[in-house]
Amino acid sequence: MRAYSLTAAAKINLYLEIIGDRPDGYHELAMVMQSVNLADRVDLRALGTDDILIHCDHPEVPADHSNLAYRAAQLMAEAFPTAFARFGGVEISIRKQIPVGAGLAGGSTNAAAVLVGLDLMWQLGLTQQELQDLGAQLGSDVPFCISGGTALATGRGEVLSPLPDLDQLHVVLGKYRSLSVSTVWAYQTYRRQFGHAYVSGHEAQAERRQHFHAGPMVTAIAHQDMTQIGQLLYNDLERVVLPDYPKVQQLRDAFQQPTVLGTMMSGSGPTVFALTASAEQAQQVRDTVRAAIPDPDLELWVTRFTPTSIRPVSSV
Ligand code: C5P
Repeated sequence: MRAYSLTAAAKINLYLEIIGDRPDGYHELAMVMQSVNLADRVDLRALGTDDILIHCDHPEVPADHSNLAYRAAQLMAEAFPTAFARFGGVEISIRKQIPVGAGLAGGSTNAAAVLVGLDLMWQLGLTQQELQDLGAQLGSDVPFCISGGTALATGRGEVLSPLPDLDQLHVVLGKYRSLSVSTVWAYQTYRRQFGHAYVSGHEAQAERRQHFHAGPMVTAIAHQDMTQIGQLLYNDLERVVLPDYPKVQQLRDAFQQPTVLGTMMSGSGPTVFALTASAEQAQQVRDTVRAAIPDPDLELWVTRFTPTSIRPVSSV
């Protein structure tokens, strides 16, 4: 096949706890990640040359080597030189639906789609674990974006354990178009403000991880207890982002409605989400928030949980 098209879904964090520092300079995390049905389209086309080309329909997405999807293709070319020599370079076209700089792993999921797509195009037959190991070299969220669904993530975010699918839940997402938060800034600010309370030492961190694995959020997911899941939503990064971004706090407050199971910021923000039990409730929540905040800069999406992240949709 000379061309593949894939959809690449966004993620939200149902839970994000910062445990402490890691020797590699990253943070040790305990997270529950969830794919949502808001997806970009990634088209891959084999080129006769050894070029890697990238296009994107979103003006804020760089169409050069700094794009994570470009780096994913470069990584595959380096890791599999024989396949690269045989099949040649690739043209990557990205059509964005997922907002940029949003805390929804938009860049990571595009990179995951390139890894999965080139594995197919170059007939490599890589396992999911092999793809995730490659993905971890690109970014902490890329391994999750390869498998998707509902998963526990520890380490930098790359150590994954699948959890039962939660495909009954509906989601309203809200983001101000002109607002984005730097992930690096959010983690650095968190370290500056709360670093004194970090759990340090290998054993103490392992104990904290174990506690999380057996904790209430994981139990609620195992029991498919949607009310509990809504109440247990958690994100440490809210502690630094919300005070600095009052509009995000205001949006989060607007999402607190009687039918909402829970509301939280995703990742390092600034996207805020609300969970509901039905599509009708999600639409009502969106309409109420739209009426409460008539700012045209505010974008709102109604979507739902999905058990898949990267999905090949066509090949020629
Ligand atoms: O891995 P990724 O490039 O997506 O991470 C972006 C930034 O987020 C890192 O450079 C780091 O500042 C912060 N980060 C962190 N700990 C993690 C994941 C990300 O400190 N586990």
